[in-house]
Amino acid sequence: MVKDSFRLTVDGVEIEAMPGQSVIEACDAAGIYIPRLCHHPDLAPAGHCRVCTCIINGRNASACVTPAAHGMVIENNTPQLTKDRRGIIEMLFVEGNHPCPYCVASGDCELQALGYRLGLVAPIQPYQWPGRKIDATHPDIYLDYDRCILCSRCIRASKMEDGKTVFGFEGRGIVMRLNLDAAGGLGETEMAAIDKAARICPVACIVIKRGAYSVPDGGRRFDITPIGSDIEAKRKESKP
Ligand code: SF4
Ligand code: SF4
Ligand code: FES
Repeated sequence: MVKDSFRLTVDGVEIEAMPGQSVIEACDAAGIYIPRLCHHPDLAPAGHCRVCTCIINGRNASACVTPAAHGMVIENNTPQLTKDRRGIIEMLFVEGNHPCPYCVASGDCELQALGYRLGLVAPIQPYQWPGRKIDATHPDIYLDYDRCILCSRCIRASKMEDGKTVFGFEGRGIVMRLNLDAAGGLGETEMAAIDKAARICPVACIVIKRGAYSVPDGGRRFDITPIGSDIEAKRKESKP
């Protein structure tokens, strides 16, 4: 056991964690995948999407913003939690426009990959078919607002990694939308294609121009292995 480490239990499996780790970080390190959308290992957690909700010591809590603690008892992989997570993914699908078969991100999209992993077949809730715009004002990047799932990764990356304030949210609740710090579109912001914010979107809302289809369908990240496999592989590797 590493000095200062402590133990907690996830779905009956005892794992080791370190001080300062959140539940999701401790599970990632131990090779246990907790589904997530807004969480990204390079960014401060935001607790926006609720996909990572687990039952922690008997109560629902977001694994990305809950510090790991000695003796915690966590339920992650249960039929009810899978159903709840599928419900969140379904809501995101019907709230935007997501024609996966001809989307540039198909096979490399975390929303789509989670839909597959959680067994989403066809949404039960009605599609809302919003009419949102595409912003192609930037020479190297375009924004397709139809795909935005309001995860805030771009906001956090722009602020904390790029030292800019390109993205923000406006409004609250169901009218909350992504906005920019320039009225004339992305082309008027300081955004650059090398920015972290340009490459951290989990869906096809922030897209680098002229890069589409450089990896053909069938050879993309989640075409090859399901989302979470990289994390789960750590556990398989550590087993004797
Ligand atoms: S962003 Fe993802 S979920 Fe949306 S249409 Fe594209 S592949 Fe499908
Ligand atoms: S543009 Fe992408 S990264 Fe930014 S909030 Fe929308 S989905 Fe998240
Ligand atoms: S991943 Fe934890 S709330 Fe989104």
